[in-house]
Amino acid sequence: MKISVMGTGYVGLVTGATLAETGNQVTCLDLLEEKITELNQGKSPIFEPGLEKLIQEGIRTGNLKGSTDIEDGIVESDLTFICVGTPSEKDGSIDLNYIKSAASSIGRALRHKEKKHTVIVKSTVIPLTTEEIVLPILIKKSGWKREQLGVGMNPEFLKEGSAVKDAQEPDRIVIGSADGLSLRVMRSLYKEHKCPKLECSPRTAEFIKYASNSFLAAKISFVNEMANMCNSWGIDFKEVAEGMGMDSRISPLFLRAGAGFGGSCFPKDVKALAAAAKSDNVESKMLEATLEVNELQPQIIVQMAEERLGVLKGKKIAVLGLAFKPDTDDVRESRSEIVVKELMDKGAEVVGHDPEAMDNFKELIEVNTAPSVEETVEKADCVILMTEWKEYTKINLKMLRNRMSGNVIIDGRRAFNPEQIEKAGFDYRAIGLG
Ligand SMILES: NC(=O)c1ccc[n+]([C@@H]2O[C@H](COP(=O)([O-])OP(=O)(O)OC[C@H]3O[C@@H](n4cnc5c(N)ncnc54)[C@H](O)[C@@H]3O)[C@@H](O)[C@H]2O)c1
Repeated sequence: MKISVMGTGYVGLVTGATLAETGNQVTCLDLLEEKITELNQGKSPIFEPGLEKLIQEGIRTGNLKGSTDIEDGIVESDLTFICVGTPSEKDGSIDLNYIKSAASSIGRALRHKEKKHTVIVKSTVIPLTTEEIVLPILIKKSGWKREQLGVGMNPEFLKEGSAVKDAQEPDRIVIGSADGLSLRVMRSLYKEHKCPKLECSPRTAEFIKYASNSFLAAKISFVNEMANMCNSWGIDFKEVAEGMGMDSRISPLFLRAGAGFGGSCFPKDVKALAAAAKSDNVESKMLEATLEVNELQPQIIVQMAEERLGVLKGKKIAVLGLAFKPDTDDVRESRSEIVVKELMDKGAEVVGHDPEAMDNFKELIEVNTAPSVEETVEKADCVILMTEWKEYTKINLKMLRNRMSGNVIIDGRRAFNPEQIEKAGFDYRAIGLG
C-alpha cells in the first residue's frame, strides 16, 4: 500500500518504519526539515531501541523516505495516517491545533488528487474529534464528496522504550471506521497481524485509548498511595505488591511504587479526559485523584532527601536518570524535572546524568550534568535514582561508596535490592520501603 504519515515524531516514525518493513511504500511527512534530512540519511531523530536499524533497512529497500513536501506526499499515497502531537492547553484540555492544521493540509492536497483517499487518525484525540473535527475539515478543504473519502481512527498503544516491538507485535489493534472504505483499508493493512482486532466506531476507538491510559495511570497512583501508607506502618510494599499480583484479576504488572508517572502520554491524556468530562458536566473524581497523587510523589522524594541530609543548601546531590523512563530520550513530564527543580530551588548542588536524555533535559532546566556515572556521583552527599536504566540498577556499589562523600541513596523506582545496598554501607530510602 502507498502510505503517507503526517508527523514524524515518536509515533509517526515508528509507524512509518514498521509499515515499510512489511512491504508498504511509506513517506513520512513533517514540517521540520532537520528531522526529514536525518531520516533520509538513515539516522533516527529520536532514541528508540531498534529504530535506526529499521529506518536504514527501509531507506535501503526504498520502502521508506521522508519529505517536507506535504502535498506531494499525500497525492502520491492512498492512505494517510495523522500522527501529529496533541499537547495540553494551559487548563489541561486537549490542544487540537496540530490536528486541525494537519487535516487542512491533507484536505488542500486532495484538491490535486482524483482517486479515493483514506485518512486515519492515529494521534490520541478526545471522542468525536475524528468525526466532528477532522472529517468536516477534510471535506471543506478538499471540496470532495463524502463518498470519496475513507475516514477512521486507529489508536496507537506503543510504549516508548519498546516502541518498535510494540508496533510490530501489538497486544491488540483497534480499528475505528466511519465508513466501508476505511474499514477495508485497515483490515487489509493489518491482515498479517495475528493479535486480536476490535472493529468499532471512531469515537469508541478514541475512547478506548483514553480509558486504557487512564486506567494504567490510576493503577500507578493507587499503588503509590498504598506504598505511602506502608512507609508509615513499617511494611515493605514490594511484598504487598507480590501478594496482590498473585490475584489474576489484579496481575503483577504496574504494581511498582515510585516517583510517579511521566512521559508524553499519561499526564496529558488523563488531564485532557478530565477536562473533556468537566466541559460536558460529567464527574471524573478518579481522574482528578490520579493526578493529585502523581503530583505528590516527586515531593516525597525531596522530603526524603531533607530528612536524611537536613538543610539541602550546599549539599551535593547526584540525580541518576532524567528521561521519564528507561530506554528513551524523552523527558516530557519527567518526574526528574520536578525533583531537580525543587532540589535546586532549595539550594542543593545538583548534578544529573542520563545515558540518552541529557541534551533534551537541559532544554527544560539548566542543570549541571556529568558525562559518566562515576563523575556524577563524585563527592555526592546523596544519590537519587529517578529512572531505572540498567546501567544504574547494576551499578558497582563499591565504586559508588568510594566516590560519594555521603552515604544516602534514595531510590525513586524501587529498583535496588535493599539488603545489598544496606550491606554495602548505604543509608537507603525508597517509596513504600516501610
Ligand atoms: N509518544 C508516545 O509514546 C505515544 C504513544 C501512543 C500515542 N501517542 C500519541 O500520538 C501522537 C503523536 O505523539 P508523538 O509523541 O509522536 O509526538 P511528537 O511531538 O514526537 O511528534 C509529532 C510530530 O508532528 C509534527 N507535526 C506537527 N504538525 C504537523 C503538520 N501540520 N504536518 C506535518 N507534521 C506536523 C511535529 O513537527 C512532530 O515532529 C499524540 O497524540 C500522542 O498522544 C504517543
